[in-house]
Amino acid sequence: MSEIKRGKFIVFEGLDGSGKGTQIRMLEKKLLDARRNVTLTAEPTDTAIGGMIRDALSGNHKRTPSELAALFLADRVQHNTDPKKGIISLLNAGKDVICDRYYFSSFAYQGIDVGLDWVMKMNLDCPDILKPDVCIFLDVDPDICMQRIDSSRAFTEIYEKASTLKKIRSRFFEVFEKLSVAENIKIIDAARSPEEIANDIEKIVFEI
Ligand code: TYD
Repeated sequence: MSEIKRGKFIVFEGLDGSGKGTQIRMLEKKLLDARRNVTLTAEPTDTAIGGMIRDALSGNHKRTPSELAALFLADRVQHNTDPKKGIISLLNAGKDVICDRYYFSSFAYQGIDVGLDWVMKMNLDCPDILKPDVCIFLDVDPDICMQRIDSSRAFTEIYEKASTLKKIRSRFFEVFEKLSVAENIKIIDAARSPEEIANDIEKIVFEI
């Protein structure tokens, strides 16, 4: 019996409104055209823990910053280890997994309010949380992200303010600097046409 080749774990990161959804769908199509077996997933997940997180993000249920960081951690552990839909079992079954946000978001968003070192340590040291094969960061000016959010949604989440997005973008870059050796991070200028961005992403992904 031939052995199943492990799939690739691809993470997309970027500010709210940076166009991750569009690029994820474009990459999925390119991978399917190349006869890869692909699954899309996202964090926060659609589980009970994910629901608790969304209640906090909408402002409906107040949580302390460390409670929120711990909820994202628990959600991520479950997201990795679920026996059927978990990232680990999908990769082992030979599927490529494209994940919309991962621990880099916890570092950039929760790292602002609770110690960055603590958030990084609890995610990076957790044996049940896999390291991605590549993290693709879509870099867009926070003011442009804010315009997109305002024109596309009736309500905004707690982080969706121009001043907060600016802080989060700097935090992403601080984190990428710290992790430049340990992780495979690719920063993409995402203020261009969707096709130009998708071509750059295709090159990166087909290299791994
Ligand atoms: P959502 O509206 O689900 O998706 P997106 O903005 O990615 O299209 O928002 C998810 C929000 O959760 C977003 O504001 C970032 C935040 N977030 C964290 O604060 N920490 C995390 O670890 C993750 C995964 C997301």
